[in-house]
Amino acid sequence: MLSQSPVMSGPFPSFDDRTFSSPLSHFQEWFKCAVAKEVLEPRSMVLATYDQTHLVDSRVLVIKAMDDEGFFIESGKGRTKVEQLKENSHVAMNFYWREQGRQIRLQGKAVEVRSEDFKHVRDYLDAKTRDLAVYKVIPDRMEFYQALEQGGYERMLYTKENNKWLTSWL
Ligand SMILES: Cc1cc2nc3c(=O)[nH]c(=O)nc-3n(C[C@H](O)[C@H](O)[C@H](O)COP(=O)(O)O)c2cc1C
Repeated sequence: MLSQSPVMSGPFPSFDDRTFSSPLSHFQEWFKCAVAKEVLEPRSMVLATYDQTHLVDSRVLVIKAMDDEGFFIESGKGRTKVEQLKENSHVAMNFYWREQGRQIRLQGKAVEVRSEDFKHVRDYLDAKTRDLAVYKVIPDRMEFYQALEQGGYERMLYTKENNKWLTSWL
């Protein structure tokens, strides 16, 4: 049964020819395309953290907003992930948009923010009305993966060096 269940069945879009100044603007372009093509729940992703014994933990979250630097996420204050992030703010995030054969993964830091400090995204955050912690996940490495219909894939990696984004194909 497992082997008969399809994976990565197209049709898929191609990797875009455009170049972007940052992976955040690249993400925004892919996100727009995901919404236009009716990808189900494109805001949902897997957030991985370290627990107190340095074992890896993960769970699904939605991104609440984004700006030129990163992604905003929310969690109940008493939650395990909040305790984990106090000890180690390094995280990984992974979006999988099945309908398009696209994966976007990143590594970065989750910085706790006060929602009042981010007026331009505040309207999208629930933290004012509930007891929520808000984090901005700021990537320093981000990879865009496009499955190809004929098989195989294309992968573009963004890395940050001296405050500039560099790209390479993998
Ligand atoms: C589709 C989906 C979206 C979710 N969105 C959030 C979210 O935005 N924030 C959150 O704290 N938990 C969210 N959850 C619940 C988390 O996956 C997780 O169960 C919960 O936050 C407890 O995780 P923790 O014990 O690691 O803190 C979501 C779950 C699903 C399935």
